[in-house]
Formats: sequence, C-alpha cells, structure tokens
Amino acid sequence: MSQFWRLDGPLQTLVLAAKQKRLPQVIYWGPPLPASDDCTALAAAHALDVTGGMLDANPDLSICPEASQSFPGQPGLICRDALGCVLRPEFRFVKDLAQGKNLCLTYADEDLGLTYEAHFELTDSSNILTCWSRLEATQPLMLNWLAAPVFPATQLSDAMISFSGRWIGEFQTHSIPWRAGIHKRESRTGRSGHEHFPGLILPEIGARNTTGRAYGFHYGWSGGHQMIAEELPDGRRQIQFGHACDSHDGLAQSFETAKLHTVFSDNGFNGCGIAFQRHLRDHILTFPKASLPRPVHYNCWEAIYFDHDLASLKDIATRAKDLGAERFVLDDGWFGQRDDDSSSLGDWQIDARKYPDGLDPLIDHVKSLGLQFGLWVEPEMVNPDSNLYRAHPDWVLGPHDQLLGRQQMVLDMARDEVQSHLYDCISALLESYDIGYLKWDHNRILPLVNVTQTQGIYALLARLRAAFPHVEIESCASGGGRIDFGILQHCQRVWLSDSNDALERSQIQHGAALFLPSLVTGSHVGPRLCHTSGRVFDMRYRAWVAAQRHMGFEMDPRELEAQEAQVLSEVTQWYKDNRGWLATADILRLDSSDPSVLAEMQLASDASRFVVFFNQLHSAQQILPRPLRLTGLDPKARYVLHLRNRDEVSKLSRGAPLLKSQDLQASGAWLMTHGLHLPYAMPGSIWVVEGQKL
Ligand code: GLA
Repeated sequence: MSQFWRLDGPLQTLVLAAKQKRLPQVIYWGPPLPASDDCTALAAAHALDVTGGMLDANPDLSICPEASQSFPGQPGLICRDALGCVLRPEFRFVKDLAQGKNLCLTYADEDLGLTYEAHFELTDSSNILTCWSRLEATQPLMLNWLAAPVFPATQLSDAMISFSGRWIGEFQTHSIPWRAGIHKRESRTGRSGHEHFPGLILPEIGARNTTGRAYGFHYGWSGGHQMIAEELPDGRRQIQFGHACDSHDGLAQSFETAKLHTVFSDNGFNGCGIAFQRHLRDHILTFPKASLPRPVHYNCWEAIYFDHDLASLKDIATRAKDLGAERFVLDDGWFGQRDDDSSSLGDWQIDARKYPDGLDPLIDHVKSLGLQFGLWVEPEMVNPDSNLYRAHPDWVLGPHDQLLGRQQMVLDMARDEVQSHLYDCISALLESYDIGYLKWDHNRILPLVNVTQTQGIYALLARLRAAFPHVEIESCASGGGRIDFGILQHCQRVWLSDSNDALERSQIQHGAALFLPSLVTGSHVGPRLCHTSGRVFDMRYRAWVAAQRHMGFEMDPRELEAQEAQVLSEVTQWYKDNRGWLATADILRLDSSDPSVLAEMQLASDASRFVVFFNQLHSAQQILPRPLRLTGLDPKARYVLHLRNRDEVSKLSRGAPLLKSQDLQASGAWLMTHGLHLPYAMPGSIWVVEGQKL
C-alpha cells in the first residue's frame, strides 16, 4: 500500500509518496501539476532501474534518509543512546495532519522509543515552502545530526550556487560543480556567520537571474548550521540542512530543527530571490509600526569611534539632520570605561567621564532636531577587563583559557542569571532614556557551537521586544555575521557589512538580494576615504549605492564639501520620495553579459513603476555599455523611462543615446528583449533609470 500527500501553490507543486508505511520521499517538486495527475501513477513512473553493483532495489531518498534502509549517503538522523550505541531507527507511519497548505507527518520507531515529525507549510503569497522536523525520545539520547526534511536536488544541473564570505566581504556567490560525494558547508562558529551564509540556490542548466528554473533554500538559524549537498553513486542528489553537528551538549529527549525555507522558481534566480524577500518582509519581520517609512540613519561609528565628545556629537547630529537623517545611532564607546575595544563590555552603565549628565543632553539635542535616538549594545559579550567579568567569571561560555576574539568572551546565554542580568541592564537603559532603536552587535565567534546559546539570545530578544514593543533592533555581528531568518524574527534591520566601500558594498548587496528585501538591508554612506579599503569614490556613487537599500550615513559630516553635501541631500531626498513603494518592491537582479556591470531593478508590488540601477563597477572591455535587458514587465504594456541622473553624463559621452536627452517610451517586450542603451559610464558610477507604466 502507498500513501501520498500533495501540496499545491500557485507556482509550485510538491508530491510526497511513501511505501508500506515507511517515510515518504519527494517524488515531484516543480511547476504546478494539473489536478488530474494521479499520485499513484506518478509514484509508479518515479521508480528507477537497478543494475550491476547495486542493491536489488533503490533505498528511498526519503525526507529523513535512514541508515537502516541501506541508504548509501548521509542519513537524515544520526544519534546514540545514553550508552553511546548508535541508533538506526526504522520509522513507520503513525498519523498525518493536513490543514489547508500545512502538513504534519508523524512517524515512530516503537522499539527505540523515537517519534519523528516532519512539518511542511506552503505560503501562497510568498511562494515559500517552509519545513522543519522534530524528534522526541522516550529515553535520553545524544543527537549528532537531525536534518530538516530532506529534498532531492535536480539532476538537470551542473553546479550549485553557494555563499561564502568574510568580514567586509559578505555574500560572495560561488558556482560549485556537482560531483560524486558530499559538498558540505558547516558553520561551527556559533553564528550563521560571514563564512557560510545558510543559503543555497540550485539552478538548472542555463538558468540565470531572469530565466530558467532554480530551487532555493535558506535555513533560518543563527547558531551555526550544516548543509549537505550530496550526489549518490546512482546519480540521485540530496540537500540537507540542520543545526551544526553536535550542537546539543548533552543527553536530551526533544529536538527540533530550525525552519528550512525552500522555493521552486520558473523565473530564474529572481524567482527564488523575490520569494525569500517577500516571505521575510511579509511573514517574518515585525515592525513596531509597519506603516512608518524606514528612517534615514546617521550612525557615528566611523566618524568618531571611541572618541565621544558631547559638543562634537551634537554638531554631528545637527549636520546629519541637515543632510536628511531621521535617526541618530550612538555607537560603541558610551559605557563603562571604553576608550578602545579592550575593556568594559558587560558594564552597561553610562561612562560619566564622557557623559557627566548621562545621555540626556545628547538625546534631548537629537530629539529637538526631530531625530529618533538609537544606541549600540553588545549584550552577549564580556571583556575580561570589566566589572561584570570580575564579579562573575563563571558566567562565560567555554573554557577560561580560550582564545579571545576582539579581546572579548561570550556570556553563557543558557544561564537564567545571565538572561536576567542582561534583561535588567538593557531594560534599565530603555526605561531611563528615550531610545527607539538598538544596534545589537555580536563581534566574535563563539568558543563552541551550542544550541542553547542561540535559544538564549532569541529568548532575551523576545522578552525585550514584548516589554518594549516600540524599540526596533538591528542585527549586527562585525557587519553581516548574523543574518538569517531566525534572528530576523526579532530584529528589523541587518548591518550587512562593515564595508562602506561603495563598490564592494554594491556587490555584497547584490548577493544578499537573493534573500533580503531592501527595507531590512542597512546601507550607509561612509567616509570619503573608505576606512576598510583606502579607496575614494565620488559622493554620487556612494550615495546611490546606499539609496538602493535602507539608507544611512556614517561619515563625519564635518568632512563634507558643499558639493558633496548637496549631492547627498539630493539623493537622500530621492530615497525619501521613493521609499514608500520601494519598501514593498521586489529586487530583481538583471543579467548583464558584461562582468564590469552589476545591475538590478526594483519593481513596485503592483508593477506600475520601477527603478533600474546600472552600476559600472570597472572599466569595460568594450568601449560602450552593452544593452541592458529589463525583466518582470508586462510585454504588452508601454512604459516611459527617465534617466534620473542625466546631469552626471560625462564629457566623454559625445553621442546621442535617447535617454541622455529625453525620456524613452517602449513596450515591455522591447525593454525585456532589446534592452536599454545607456550613455557611456565612468567606472565607479551608477545610472539610475526610473520607469513608469503608461
Ligand atoms: C562592529 C560593528 C561596527 C561597530 C563596531 C563597534 O565591528 O560591525 O559597525 O558597531 O562593532 O565596536
């Protein structure tokens, strides 16, 4: 006897089939199937041949592949009993519960006392299929690995797109060829990490940003994860995501993976990107007031570092306001005796040397300008040189002789007294001062990977948000070291990177757009001489890069020349004029056959308008810009396009591309096939083209 379950959304169908009460396998995942497709027939047609050197039947690539079934690859569950004996469960069907687009399947191995649950939730509006698994045991056991429900990967693919990164270089995309065996990514640093963003795109051969088929995965967990992409000897492929191995310290009886967000796209990588962007924006993020526009930030870090001086900060705030800022964030250096990064983390009291009258004089000034006040904190961390550490050396996570990171250690968030202490410290600040925003940092990797640490930070954030629902929180971890849909259940912004080098930032933004919508992605105009690259870019370039996401400034405004200030004010005003519709727009990455160009479109949710950013990163090999094809438009509709920054055309442009002097009218079909001819672009410049449906 076979069992079937089918989930149908507007853009995808998933079919699960199980034999003889065993765990099911995904037998179809792709574009919607007609209702007339009979699951029994699909399952029969899914059967594979057997030949020499194989078992007499193919073990199922089930949602939790079982070693007990002679599965020849990575099992979905690896655990031991309390005596250290390996358990090899044989799960059998117990029950199913299907409610609308949600499905929960329960299986048990009664001899071993194990119950396995797989959950699937299909969200039509975002096109995301979210799934997770749970394991319950009647006896304590030691878990090494539990995968969220396992998916087969398409064999019509020669490479996978995987993400790596580093400090000031997040979201680098790599095309990794499929080959026999396992491609494993594991973040064992206790963060989702710069190094291994927990995401994967599986393109079918020929897929690009705008065309072709692709499958997307994102594991929403901030504590370290493992991804397995494996090709079995028979050619089948599987994708597994779960917490990093051995994330559970001791014996336990209940385990749950984080949510694995998945999507099938018939519209290239962008179909995955917009599904993740929409799902995060519409189903995960919670804003205190969603209707309020994203305020333009001013963050003082790269202006003053630890050198806090009230008069200077007031002056900076006034100038930031004049440029268009709406939120002023006081970064590191206001507490304890923190004159550099060697001390005071843990001592969350105002430094009376720098602020003899507390923060009120600064906050009053900021508020008098009409700006909101935000504050930097790094609560999970402690410096050995701090009163907190001297009082509670036993509160740290990991061994006492561990290597320090940025001269700091991590508090053990599983301890109740740590939770209470941090809650008291942060809530005292939020009660004493008019603070609307916290930049919540996490500047070192953990000495060990541990699930309770992540549960602890989620619990603390949830408690603070419940008590102070008006306060927004930004997730920062030396830039983009903790970006994932888990932390974003509690935060409203990410500090994507410590790189304010506009060119590098635009590349990081481009990679991140496969998962993150614009409104959550912080982007600041940094100092003229970039502190992380030593490069200088024109203010026009720096400002337009920041205006592509949640805009802010981080330079010392006292360094700005009048012309720079004017450009920045104008672009900031453009951001303010457009942020309403941009907040719900899709970011669509454009395909350019020119590696010197990075281009994207932001298309309004009603598709009535868009903006194109054509970023000339470097000098091109050929003389003129190649035509830029747009995407996502109605082929039959007509559009009018306006080159917003026509005044930036350089003297080297001597010809007459239409957009240089007038607006262009064309059909969606023409724009998506022929593409735009833009004027010659200087390296390190951006064309901004606004489009409107007629
Ligand atoms: C991290 C952040 C920076 C800044 C510093 C302060 O590096 O990424 O933006 O807040 O900490 O110490």
